[in-house]
Amino acid sequence: MEKFHHEALEVGKAVSRIIALALDLEVDFFDKPEVLGKPIATLRLLHYEDQFSDPAKGIYGAGAHSDFGFITLLATDDVMGLQICKDKDAKPQIWEYVTPIKGAFIVNLGDMLERWSNCMFKSTLHRVLGNGQDRYSIAYFVEPNHDSLVECLPTCKTEKSPPKFPPIRCSTYLSQRYKDTHADLSVYDKHQA
Ligand code: OGA
Ligand code: NI
Repeated sequence: MEKFHHEALEVGKAVSRIIALALDLEVDFFDKPEVLGKPIATLRLLHYEDQFSDPAKGIYGAGAHSDFGFITLLATDDVMGLQICKDKDAKPQIWEYVTPIKGAFIVNLGDMLERWSNCMFKSTLHRVLGNGQDRYSIAYFVEPNHDSLVECLPTCKTEKSPPKFPPIRCSTYLSQRYKDTHADLSVYDKHQA
């Protein structure tokens, strides 16, 4: 797992260089010690049991969401399951399967990158449907250093399109997102009181 962690981070850095070029930034804008030198990078080992999903009944392997962070590298087995929705605002939403390619990562963009790029890049809305087979995947979440400042990128703002969000520290942003996600846990505190 340590080797995977190490090597996946190198892939994450390479992808960050492509993202920087796509945004007209210096190639090493993200891939430098202040940003990805001490990243909050976490691995999630996932096993979806052999259940069938039923969206009509709200039964999913993983419900629709976008990941919090910068980018996610997803390694999966060859069991279909992951779907993405390219237009979050479409009604109804259109879900497309992502075909796994052996030896390749699926790259999902996270909400932090959406914020950083002033919504130039949209985070990937995705979900997982079970088709009755066991499915295994490894999600590698790449977030910058704790103290990295997520501030509207210089190439993503103009007079007509000013920054939509104030600057925020990576750690503040992430803890806020975790807190929002687990807001329901506060009921336990109330029971204890
Ligand atoms: C996730 C996720 C997808 C998958 O862990 O955030 O979206 O294919 N995983 O397991
Ligand atoms: Ni996800």
